[in-house]
Amino acid sequence: MARPFPDFKLDSNKGLQMSATVSRWLRRGAGVLLVLLVIAGVGVGVGLRQADAKMHRTVSVSVDPLALRDDAQALSHGQYLYHSRGCAECHGANGAGRTFVNDGGMHLAGPNITLGTGGVVSAYREEDWVRTLRHGVKPNGQPALIMPSEDFNQYTDQDLAAVIAYVRHLPPVAGQGAVLEMPVPVRVLYALGVMTDAAERINHQLPPPAPVPEAVSAAHGAYVANMCLGCHGAHLSGGAIPGAPPSWPPAANLTPGSGSVISRYASVDAFVQMLRSGRRPDGSAIQVMPFETLKQLSDTDARAVYAYLQTLPARPAGGR
Ligand code: HEC
Ligand code: HEC
Repeated sequence: MARPFPDFKLDSNKGLQMSATVSRWLRRGAGVLLVLLVIAGVGVGVGLRQADAKMHRTVSVSVDPLALRDDAQALSHGQYLYHSRGCAECHGANGAGRTFVNDGGMHLAGPNITLGTGGVVSAYREEDWVRTLRHGVKPNGQPALIMPSEDFNQYTDQDLAAVIAYVRHLPPVAGQGAVLEMPVPVRVLYALGVMTDAAERINHQLPPPAPVPEAVSAAHGAYVANMCLGCHGAHLSGGAIPGAPPSWPPAANLTPGSGSVISRYASVDAFVQMLRSGRRPDGSAIQVMPFETLKQLSDTDARAVYAYLQTLPARPAGGR
């Protein structure tokens, strides 16, 4: 029996065969893709769960007692520290809490640290202040995620007592709890240990330093420059700031090594002018640096930091 359109059948068979092959491949491809997506999804899921577990882990630290103070000298020195060391930047000038990063899917706000509505310190006992500020651990034993307590870990007992005195005497104002919204990749980096919290970075055994006289000296400058380490790195040679939004430039190399910016500041006056204005000697604006805070540094503190930077050994940029 002759078939009316034999070729057609053949073709259509081939077509069918081909499409079956293609669809098998497609299905297999889709299967592979699906498996990859599931692996990636499970990876992200596991990462997020690990990040959550890490955030809610208990850090046990032994908190050395600190004599709290209420005297006028402590309150006025505490006020200076509160405004010149960054507390105000993240908690607001009045302590009610403040958004300090809102960029690239990241929203971070420090909580209200007054006794007003929405404050987080109403049940704070004396040792809780020391545990939070010096160790980056909250009263329930869980780590603070973002607060840079390593900057405050090496405060002298006198300075710590002064800043605590000032905060405890802030008039109660209404405010909010902390906002800690971070994009998924940042949380996964936190789980992987690429991004760390202060409690991980702090050496909890290190005793507080002995006070050095407040003077334009490298020794006092090294003490003040603790506030630069979180961004410029432990050795001040700069590099990408861990966990920072992608739009942030790397922190500058403050040592005389490769890529150093220090040659721009041949005189201490040029350096102090930069801290006061937020601008380089050529007039261009410097990104990211917390100038609202740095502006408040006393002349002695600012000049001492410069004296300290002069003593740093050269390191290539980005060595942190
Ligand atoms: C870079 C921003 C930043 C700076 C600077 C900062 N904080 Fe915080 N602080 C935070 C954030 C965010 C939290 C919420 C806890 C966390 O990090 O998860 C917090 C939490 C706190 C808490 C409450 C912790 C708890 O029990 O929930 C206290 C008290 C506090 N900060 C005091 C201070 C003082 C005093 C200073 C200055 C010496 C300071 N902070 C500097 C961002 C900051
Ligand atoms: C919150 C993070 C942060 C802190 C805290 C910080 N810096 Fe920076 N700093 C940066 C970043 C990021 C840059 C690079 C800015 C740019 O490229 O525009 C920078 C740049 C600089 C520069 C180079 C400016 C120029 O000429 O280009 C100097 C000098 C400097 N910082 C000094 C300091 C000192 C001193 C402190 C402490 C008293 C400090 N910084 C604290 C993030 C920080």
